[in-house]
Amino acid sequence: MTHPAERETSSQAEPAGPAGPAGPAGPVVVTTRSDLRDAMAIWAMTAPEATDRRAVVMTMGALHEGHLDLVRRARAEAGPGGQVLVTIFVNPLQFGAGEDLDSYPRDLERDVALLAGAGADVVFAPAPDVVYPDGDPVVRVSAGRIGEVLEGAFRPGHLDGVLTVVLKLMHATRPDVALFGEKDAQQLLAVRRMVRDLDLDVEIVGVPTRRDEDGLALSSRNAYLSDEERRSALALSRALRAGAQQAAGGAGAAAVRATASGILNEATDVVVDYLALVDPATVEEVPAEHTGPALLLVAARVGTTRLIDNQAVDVVAPSDGSETPGQEASRD
Ligand code: PAF
Repeated sequence: MTHPAERETSSQAEPAGPAGPAGPAGPVVVTTRSDLRDAMAIWAMTAPEATDRRAVVMTMGALHEGHLDLVRRARAEAGPGGQVLVTIFVNPLQFGAGEDLDSYPRDLERDVALLAGAGADVVFAPAPDVVYPDGDPVVRVSAGRIGEVLEGAFRPGHLDGVLTVVLKLMHATRPDVALFGEKDAQQLLAVRRMVRDLDLDVEIVGVPTRRDEDGLALSSRNAYLSDEERRSALALSRALRAGAQQAAGGAGAAAVRATASGILNEATDVVVDYLALVDPATVEEVPAEHTGPALLLVAARVGTTRLIDNQAVDVVAPSDGSETPGQEASRD
């Protein structure tokens, strides 16, 4: 029986080249599973000094320098003879009702031109019916508790939708290594847990968040911001930096949260969904007496645009040996 997705004909977007290393013509663009399989197989036969190592970057397009960092790192991970494959797919399953699925920016030609300069060899840009030939899948991956807190509480089902498509794209692309941005920290954790819990044979690499000079984390959704909203959005990175400084100075978890929250509350047009100081391994809130690594996470709406950001912090014990306010409170 032929998989419905495989009956589709390839509609290669320009620019496209042979399924060899990205040359001046840029990466080869495929839209069907069978063309993807061919592009992966032909690689081994035609690329100079080809190895069978494949690095994959999954995106929803509307690429920016943060995505290109992932692709450059993928190039390094794959090695000169390895293949770098980028997927571009706006996954309906991870958007809730009333979210921006329809208006999410899509410009394949622009994305492919950017990828040409970053070292991508193949772009897989399937239509929804290639990924979901039978419509919405009945069986999905559950992110469990990770999918219920923070992002999961504000976007129910979002992380399940992410994991479901990530698993499907892993089956389609069979990577040795897959790269994800640290900006989506909860997503990265959920992907790592899926790989571990479901025994997937792929290495997951997290790539640091790329920021504009003023500190704003790059996001495809930044394109929705007016100039004024963009200025307001700087409160997110400012709050995270201030929280991290407090933590490094021995202020304790409660003060870290209070400092970051104070900055966000002062900002005009910023409506906070959550601000949380969490255990990086579980995304559960750390107790007030916590010391050691933690992750300060924020999600907020600026106008109609929802942004997320995070910062790794190290909560150090006060150098004078005194208790943090949290330690005191925890004995009450
Ligand atoms: O991070 C994203 O762009 C998406 O969530 C991903 C991983 C491509 C899945 O659709």
